[in-house]
Amino acid sequence: MITKIEELLKKVEDFKPQAQADIEEFRIRLLGKKGEVTALMEEFRTVAPELKRELGQKLNILKSAALEKVNAMKSEFSGRTASGGKIDDMTRPGTNDPIGSRHPISLVRNQIVAIFARLGYTVAEGPEIEDDWHVFSALNFPPDHPARDMQDTFFVEKNPDILLRTHTSSIQVRVMETQKPPIRVICPGRVFRNEAISSRSHCIFHQVEGLYIDENVSFADLKQSILYFAREMFGQAAKIRLRPSYFPFTEPSAEVDVSCNLCGGKGCGVCKGTGWLEIMGCGMVDPNVLEACGIDSTKYTGFAFGMGIERIAMLKFGVRDIRLFFENDVRFLRQFGSVL
Ligand code: DAH
Repeated sequence: MITKIEELLKKVEDFKPQAQADIEEFRIRLLGKKGEVTALMEEFRTVAPELKRELGQKLNILKSAALEKVNAMKSEFSGRTASGGKIDDMTRPGTNDPIGSRHPISLVRNQIVAIFARLGYTVAEGPEIEDDWHVFSALNFPPDHPARDMQDTFFVEKNPDILLRTHTSSIQVRVMETQKPPIRVICPGRVFRNEAISSRSHCIFHQVEGLYIDENVSFADLKQSILYFAREMFGQAAKIRLRPSYFPFTEPSAEVDVSCNLCGGKGCGVCKGTGWLEIMGCGMVDPNVLEACGIDSTKYTGFAFGMGIERIAMLKFGVRDIRLFFENDVRFLRQFGSVL
């Protein structure tokens, strides 16, 4: 019986099918109901107990070798046409890999960058893991400002100086520290806040910061730039409205509303009947910030603005839940394939 097993093992090793049909024939000849391996299994039942151990092991090796060979040969043959071997049908259509679509956040970010590029802005980026100086201190945050609180900021390890940036305003500090005016940059990026996740807020989101520094930059320049942006983003009929506000890094500061693009300003559920939607914060860069970044505040002035990309995308596409942007459900993502 041992010699028979060894003979069959050799057969398995040497087996080289010429066609797919050979594989099935080989399988039946060895492993089929009346196959040679099957017959040996039957015979095994009658061998003397002291031989069972050795023979059993050998038989098992033979059986799995035969199975493996059959499977390996099958996959080799089925792969042949696809992998460039023999082609059985030249007219058969190829298999197309589905093409993905851009994420709506990328689409809106790219559009914001493109709009400001037309006004001469270039893109600047900065690190997501930042230090206190670039996120808070240089931006004129008083030492006890609530935004530095543990509740809003994710700290990296136990060092309170190293944190995940809570806004992209940190990039304007980095730009002002390394470039001389005139400066015109648009800074997209991901930001992090220790906030509860809901349909309206998330602990990770995206912002775009804008910064323009030169001699004689005025609040009128800021208003006109933002109006241009709003019209390009939401349509030429868009109007803007500025409300006084407070940010440590700008003085004066304002909050910008755009006329609701869903109801045309008449008032609807999305704008809560007001006809206006808040889209960004802005203001004239505080002289303290210019000085902290090494820019002469007696010579230069400038404006800055910051907006959330998710917010703009939600308003533009009528998305009611911010979490959809992070779930990556293809049924959601597919809808934005060709919108911009
Ligand atoms: N950094 C602010 C935030 O995260 C947004 C902002 C407001 C940026 C006013 C600015 C600005 O540059 O001038 O909420």
